[in-house]
Amino acid sequence: MLLATNLRASGSWCDKRLLLLFLFSLFLFIAALFTFNPSLRQLPRHFIDDRPAAHHFIPTSASNDLTAGESWIFDSTKDGQNYGLSDVQCSSTFPKLYTSIDEMVARHASKLIRAKDLDATMTGDHAVTIPVKAMIFEGELFVVDDGGMTDFYGTRLFATLDSLHRALIAFPDRAQLPNCEFIISWGDKPARGAPVWGYTKKDTSEYYNTWLMPDFGFFSWPEPKTGAYTEVRRAMKKVETDTPFEAKIPKLVWRGAPLIEDRVKLLENSQDKDWANVRGINWEDKEDLEKNHLTLAEHCRYMFIGHVSGLSWSGQGKYVRNCHSVIVSHTLEWREIYDSAIVYSGPEQNAVRVADDWSDLDATMKTLLANTTAAKSIADNAKDMLRDRYLTPAAEACYWRKLIQGYASVSFDPELYEADKQTLRGVPYESFTLLRKVRWDAY
Ligand SMILES: *[C@@H]1O[C@H](CO)[C@@H](O)[C@H](O)[C@H]1NC(C)=O
Repeated sequence: MLLATNLRASGSWCDKRLLLLFLFSLFLFIAALFTFNPSLRQLPRHFIDDRPAAHHFIPTSASNDLTAGESWIFDSTKDGQNYGLSDVQCSSTFPKLYTSIDEMVARHASKLIRAKDLDATMTGDHAVTIPVKAMIFEGELFVVDDGGMTDFYGTRLFATLDSLHRALIAFPDRAQLPNCEFIISWGDKPARGAPVWGYTKKDTSEYYNTWLMPDFGFFSWPEPKTGAYTEVRRAMKKVETDTPFEAKIPKLVWRGAPLIEDRVKLLENSQDKDWANVRGINWEDKEDLEKNHLTLAEHCRYMFIGHVSGLSWSGQGKYVRNCHSVIVSHTLEWREIYDSAIVYSGPEQNAVRVADDWSDLDATMKTLLANTTAAKSIADNAKDMLRDRYLTPAAEACYWRKLIQGYASVSFDPELYEADKQTLRGVPYESFTLLRKVRWDAY
């Protein structure tokens, strides 16, 4: 009552002072209320602090806002598994991810990809992995030609199509993506000559037309029980929680089949060395496997992890770079989608490169072990730049969409229908993934 009277009679200097005093008290009262009553604190903070991890729900609608790129900052804990980042977020968070796409767009700018260029690939001579022709139309995935395959040589083709499909369905603006038709060449080495999407390529003329796509392990590789990519990352995080860098075994670890000369050289140059836990594995020998096999997560217990090419690229690379450890490799000729983010020198160094024949491995390991503080900073950079950025599931989904955009920009416009204008040229992925073929008899 007193206040109301004062307000009405406001005008005199004394009344104004009283009003200010009242407002200040009110402010103090509200501040005290928030401080002592946790339920009145900001809701998201309350969620983050007090709920068990499994129940975290952080609304992401804001991160799908195309205009949010300027103020939004990627947080790997919150956004690392967001398959639907906006175009602007993808560009600003992973600026080095699209190098190979930009290269290909520049390469094809004066020589657009025509429909008949794809047909040439489909009729080529391919051993077990006949290329599959697919199409994206208004953001939907279709399989146009399965090459007549009945046996899909394991799961990798479906892992690839599934991860592409995931990158589409998670993206609210998928209908605005450009239409395109393309060949997925899902062998260890992509089909040569023709424009195809492949897991890897070398910078040689035979792969001049290969567009890099994410490898199937970014989805799941169940055959060797590697499992889903997110499953591997989770298992590794667990090891990392138990084993900070300083507590890791100060040795170089590597396991793999000694398939090729490069691997034999690694084995030779680490034989009988104090710093080495390097072993060739024979996948056919059960006893050997049981004794010497290490899970990918167990690799994270070591300060140093060896990485070497396989018949082409080695899928192990993207997994072990999720460890907070130092990756030691030779020059990796077979490229992968994220490799522009690997840095071998300077303050941002996040990996160590030795001679191609591994002859300086011993000297390199001695240098690294002489100063594990310096080694840790390489591992720190790898954690920040690779595990928590370029190797996140979010980055993989961004890559797929940028690949679609880049490829479509230098490629023909595909037809949705046959010449009759009513028969779909492709089978929607939803059906293909169930029946695993593009033609079947209805009943
Ligand atoms: C080890 O490396 C760190 C970081 O590069 C450096 O500051 C330090 O001086 C080095 N210590 C020795 C003994 O060389």
